[in-house]
Amino acid sequence: MLPYGRQSIAESDVDAVAAVLRGDWLTTGPTVTAFEDAISAVTGGHRAVTCTSGTAALHMAYAAAGGGPGDQVITTPMTFVATASGASILGAEIVFADVEEDTALLDPAAVEAAVTERTRVIAAVDYAGHAADYDALQPIADRVGALTLDDAAHSIGGTYKGRPVGDLADITTLSFFPTKNLTTGEGGAVVAKDEALAQRAHEFHFIGLVRDSSRFRISDEGPWHQEVHEFGINYRLTDLACALGLSQLARLQAFKERRTAITARYNAALASVDGLRIPVQRDDVDPAWHLYPVRVLDGRRREVFEKMRERGIGVQVNYIPVYWHPVYADLGYRRGMCPNAEAFYAEELSLPLYPDLTDDQVDQVVEVLTEVLA
Ligand SMILES: Cc1ncc(COP(=O)(O)O)c(C=O)c1O
Repeated sequence: MLPYGRQSIAESDVDAVAAVLRGDWLTTGPTVTAFEDAISAVTGGHRAVTCTSGTAALHMAYAAAGGGPGDQVITTPMTFVATASGASILGAEIVFADVEEDTALLDPAAVEAAVTERTRVIAAVDYAGHAADYDALQPIADRVGALTLDDAAHSIGGTYKGRPVGDLADITTLSFFPTKNLTTGEGGAVVAKDEALAQRAHEFHFIGLVRDSSRFRISDEGPWHQEVHEFGINYRLTDLACALGLSQLARLQAFKERRTAITARYNAALASVDGLRIPVQRDDVDPAWHLYPVRVLDGRRREVFEKMRERGIGVQVNYIPVYWHPVYADLGYRRGMCPNAEAFYAEELSLPLYPDLTDDQVDQVVEVLTEVLA
């Protein structure tokens, strides 16, 4: 079965991990710092804090933003559940705003209609690797004193109006799961423009430990002293994982170019196939394509999914609208809230896309898809 996504591991990645394994540090050592600095360098120069997953990154970002009971987080339903659940778990109320009909990205007009004085965070997702419209979202957030969040699990390496992902929103979260644009096995990061916000994210992922003596509230214990002011979790990424990340980051540009070339090959082959819509791209966005999401028309998505799987093509569906999950249904969210997202979900099919996919394999996917549709 051709998977819909998978990692690309080179000997350089293996060597980088083995070198750390032979050294002194397995957990929080110099490679964590080196990887965080390298992430910062490709995400606009803002401080990056690594962590154990994209889900952890979202939890940290919402905790740093201070979202809790009484606060609202506006987000898109066309995403993985963690974009919303990372705030729900802190007690914030999620307000789902609909997506644009063509891109499936959070629609600024829908956000405008949903925003209130209680909005703490406006969280967009760069679905499939294509950045959302941050120049439209930021003024809405600024007006009510909210923060913008870019769930960039799909989009590290992409740009919007010439600015890199990481520089688009107040706070950005990344995932380094194996199918993503670069991997550390499990892993993720938070990037924040404001240093105080980054420090809060850091402390949250470090059990809440305060080690800066100028901030101590207990001052007479001794040189070993560290203390906790707010609760936190251990979400630390290891030196081992960061060695893989650092090595992968050196390959990010090559990964992006290959993903772009595969996307172009799919586009050329599928643009005029009946019963199909190919992904759209805004003029001012240079995506880091993580998914290749086609839309299968005429109510045939499930049939096409099953037939392609039968023929060894590992297609996927991204995503069921988040508020359809029973955990949200139980809270009273009802189907029909975001018609564009639901219509998109009904038709969406992700074709295989990863750097090691060969042109011949792309052509095979196209052949099977066109035969199934015919
Ligand atoms: C949009 C989005 N947000 C968050 C996540 C969570 O990332 P992770 O799997 O690293 O926890 C994912 C990955 O599945 C994702 O696709």
